[in-house]
Amino acid sequence: MNKTNININTNIKSGTIAEPSLLRVDSLTKWFPLRRGLLAGRKKGPGAYIRAVDGVSFEVKPGQSLGLAGESGSGKTVTAEMLARLQSPTAGTIHFLGEDVTTARSRDLMRFRRQVQMVFQNPYDCLNERWRVYDIVREPLIIHRLGHGNEHLDTCKEMLTVVGLQPAEHYLYRYPHELSGGERQRVAIARALVLRPALLIADEPTTMLDVSVRAGVLNLFRKLQQDLDLSILFISHEFSTISYICDTTAIMYLGKIMEIGPTSQVFSHRYHPYSDALAASLPVVNAEDKRPPARISGEIPGAASIPRGCRFAPRCPYQAPACTAEEPPLLPVDSSHRVACVIWSGETPSSEQRAFQENVLRRQDEEGGAA
Ligand SMILES: Nc1ncnc2c1ncn2[C@@H]1O[C@H](COP(=O)(O)OP(=O)(O)OP(=O)(O)O)[C@@H](O)[C@H]1O
Ligand code: SF4
Ligand SMILES: [Mg+2]
Repeated sequence: MNKTNININTNIKSGTIAEPSLLRVDSLTKWFPLRRGLLAGRKKGPGAYIRAVDGVSFEVKPGQSLGLAGESGSGKTVTAEMLARLQSPTAGTIHFLGEDVTTARSRDLMRFRRQVQMVFQNPYDCLNERWRVYDIVREPLIIHRLGHGNEHLDTCKEMLTVVGLQPAEHYLYRYPHELSGGERQRVAIARALVLRPALLIADEPTTMLDVSVRAGVLNLFRKLQQDLDLSILFISHEFSTISYICDTTAIMYLGKIMEIGPTSQVFSHRYHPYSDALAASLPVVNAEDKRPPARISGEIPGAASIPRGCRFAPRCPYQAPACTAEEPPLLPVDSSHRVACVIWSGETPSSEQRAFQENVLRRQDEEGGAA
């Protein structure tokens, strides 16, 4: 298969970004109106909404992969659905290859959809059980009126081979119920790739699969990225999966990005106490760290009742009065890494915050020394 041929539009307003991005998202927001309960309809202001995604900004460069990590309910899927234009944002913008596609319609939307495809979490839900694999994989070609007859057959065979369903003839005329979970997800990936998109959005694509086949599907994503120069926005609540696939990682909590930077740095430095707590589940972190991450207690609050100030404060072991005064902005800690936490924003830290800060800096020094 040829590499994806992306015609990068460098005609981006000068001054807004330094290099062309494949995807750029600014202050993307999705608030759902509260529909149930006594206060629904009477409440005004932010409290009248489920603030599923609350102003996220990031970019994906051509050929790069971004991971979105965070607990259940942090807004990963709603973000992905807005990017795929399956949900309309309440506010914010989405630029793709320099073009504003936030409200693109008809032909512009079709053009965008050719370039951005999504793979969903559940391969048992997303394939039409009455269609054969061939019909499923070629459907996007029909919708977009690309090629016909034998061309479709050749392209579908090629796609099945790319996703590791070989020999393709063995799968083309089978129905989804004749396939395993891993094979179904590979069919879903083949369908997503058949238009040769520039960006693949994968929302927890291995969570519903047997542990025995997960590694194979993850390896496939890595291979696609390398062989096809494909950009991937990969969603997972598992840190280890993200670290395997993605160049850049964004840690989301209650609709906001708490930390974003190069994956290796986000995992090793863990500037944000929430990133640190998420990493508590990684055996390698626990084994190597002299001061292991503090585990967080309690559940993520509902997105209709976002805490004041830092939204992580009620669960944060390092909370201090400054944390609840106002929401910490996402500020740079170095040229490629940003964090939303008062520990790094120049406030005078409490003694516990200083201990956390020193631990992060010590880890960095050790890494620098080992390099
Ligand atoms: N259609 C909707 N109407 C109202 N609230 C919604 C809707 N879709 C999502 N939400 C809420 O938005 C918040 C974010 O949901 P989302 O599905 O994006 O979380 P997630 O990070 O993908 O979680 P998970 O890891 O469980 O998939 C949740 O509080 C969820 O209940
Ligand atoms: S701002 Fe305060 S409460 Fe929030 S993560 Fe940082 S230390 Fe914890
Ligand atoms: Mg989700």
